[in-house]
Amino acid sequence: MCGIVGYVGKDNAKDIVIDGLKKLEYRGYDSAGIAIIRNGKLEVKKHVGGIANLENLIGEDPMTSNIAIGHTRWATHGVPSDDNAHPHTSQDGKIAIVHNGIIENYVELKHQLEEKHGVIFRTETDSEVIAQLIGVIYKEKKDLLQSVFDAVDKMRGTYAIVAMSQDEPDRMVAVRKDAPLIVGLGKENNFVASDIPALLKYVKEIYLIENNETVLVKADEVKIFNEDRKEIKREVFHVTWDVDAAEKEGYEHFMLKEIYEQPKGLSETLNRRLTKDGKIRLEGISLTKEDIDNINKIYIVACGTAYHAGLVGKYIIEKLAKIPVEVDVASEFRYRDPLVDEKTLFIAISQSGETLDTLAALREAKKRGARVLSVVNVVGSSVARESDDVFYTWAGPEIAVASTKAYTTQLMCMYMLALYMGLETGTLTREYYDNFIKDLQEVPGKLKTFFRNVSQIEELSKSLYNREQVFFIGRGLDSAVSYEGSLKLKEISYINSFAIAAGELKHGTIALMEPGTLVIALACQDFLYEKMVSNIQEIKARGAYVLAIAKEGNDAIAKQSDTMIYIPECRDEIVPLISVVPLQLFAYYVARERGCNIDKPKNLAKSVTVE
Ligand code: F6R
Repeated sequence: MCGIVGYVGKDNAKDIVIDGLKKLEYRGYDSAGIAIIRNGKLEVKKHVGGIANLENLIGEDPMTSNIAIGHTRWATHGVPSDDNAHPHTSQDGKIAIVHNGIIENYVELKHQLEEKHGVIFRTETDSEVIAQLIGVIYKEKKDLLQSVFDAVDKMRGTYAIVAMSQDEPDRMVAVRKDAPLIVGLGKENNFVASDIPALLKYVKEIYLIENNETVLVKADEVKIFNEDRKEIKREVFHVTWDVDAAEKEGYEHFMLKEIYEQPKGLSETLNRRLTKDGKIRLEGISLTKEDIDNINKIYIVACGTAYHAGLVGKYIIEKLAKIPVEVDVASEFRYRDPLVDEKTLFIAISQSGETLDTLAALREAKKRGARVLSVVNVVGSSVARESDDVFYTWAGPEIAVASTKAYTTQLMCMYMLALYMGLETGTLTREYYDNFIKDLQEVPGKLKTFFRNVSQIEELSKSLYNREQVFFIGRGLDSAVSYEGSLKLKEISYINSFAIAAGELKHGTIALMEPGTLVIALACQDFLYEKMVSNIQEIKARGAYVLAIAKEGNDAIAKQSDTMIYIPECRDEIVPLISVVPLQLFAYYVARERGCNIDKPKNLAKSVTVE
């Protein structure tokens, strides 16, 4: 979603801001823009399309200035266009703002500004209202900080806003409500941004800005104010990862790099939390036997890929810890009347920790008395901060829009939670637990072995890339993984793909099977494999072309299928950690074959901070 970068300091602001915006491209956007103050005058350049278009527009102009705010826009109100791109300016052209989020009462504010102040709007966006409103207030207050305070009081919605005024060229004022915002602390240089990767090249010390806080940022001073406009202190957050972690390191795409990083991420997430005697130490989580005994239900709520991790979580927690689990997509959960109370453990799963629907669902669950545990990748993100307990996936930064290593490390957290709860409450014997942990520890090695056969998947994609539709089928845990495989394929290759529990096919979807229809059949659950053989036969009888995924040595499935991908042998319960990888790779190579923009698929954003 929209990315924001702002800079004030001794260097040329334009270069730093454009560089930062490029680091935020992964969030997804459709236009870009920048505002500077040069020789006492505010100047704005903005263009629809990629940052390269903005750079072409700027051309050789150095845009020399010590202050700049920049933005990549992901359209919500108004089509992607030059006019609708940010920054937006006030009527007199003296104030510029960039905004991530939605101003819900913008129509009302717009009418007031038009009728009372004669403002003429130039764009279709909700965000322009912010610039116009600050502009009108500024005429009276003549102080940017006070004007932003007053403007925010009149706005409803979600926002990270950065404003600057040509009459105060030494400062930016930023404000946050339900959209990510950080401040980077340099030497005679300070920054604001939506996300850490934008600033990593320049600073490692960060202030994480909380909801309803306003920040005054000058080159040599940063002040944070709370909702009551009182100055408050904030601890500095030290970023531990380096620039390389957010670079491609020779891989053609971030997605491929992140697929290959899965053994490392899984090993970090698991091994760093195992004590010498093999027990799981849940740092940051105080879940005693008593707490677990007190829970009568677990609700796992998330969106997209994270929701798919929740589907596996349900299966595993119910099997190992014997606690009933419901799984829901956050955008549905929050508008139902969910049966959640103080006996519910609510688990939110989110890579970014900024997904608005997940955050809203979490708040709803908290309001109803549930204890909230989150499984999050981005340290210090909103979901993490608002949870009672946080279980971090140590996947490292995930830049590609299509989630891969975040998913498998989320799965690992699900296994660890289930095993922990099962051991604490006695539903598992120590022997079963130890064997399970040992099997989990072997997964990274098995994945590395599997990577030796990637060329087979690359070859397969060359013959299958031009299909118009693809079906994914599976049973049990294979069914949960097939949803994820299907999502991966559709989001990056734009092929119409559809996942369905294999046993459900005959209840309607089988009508779509035609000679040559590509069906990817996951048959990795030993105890269900005969059932899968029957399902494969049913679709083969209608002429489907079957690509099956099965464990090494499963010749029976090979006989039924047109082509095979084998995964290393492992216990049924942990199959998802491995079987999803060929699906990620298949999606990747098919999308590459089709010439798609793999790391930044159209219409998608990495961090979905609007409803
Ligand atoms: C798909 C994908 C999305 C996200 C979803 C939730 O590859 O990445 O479906 O999983 O938008 O995002 P997070 O996990 O950041 O809450």
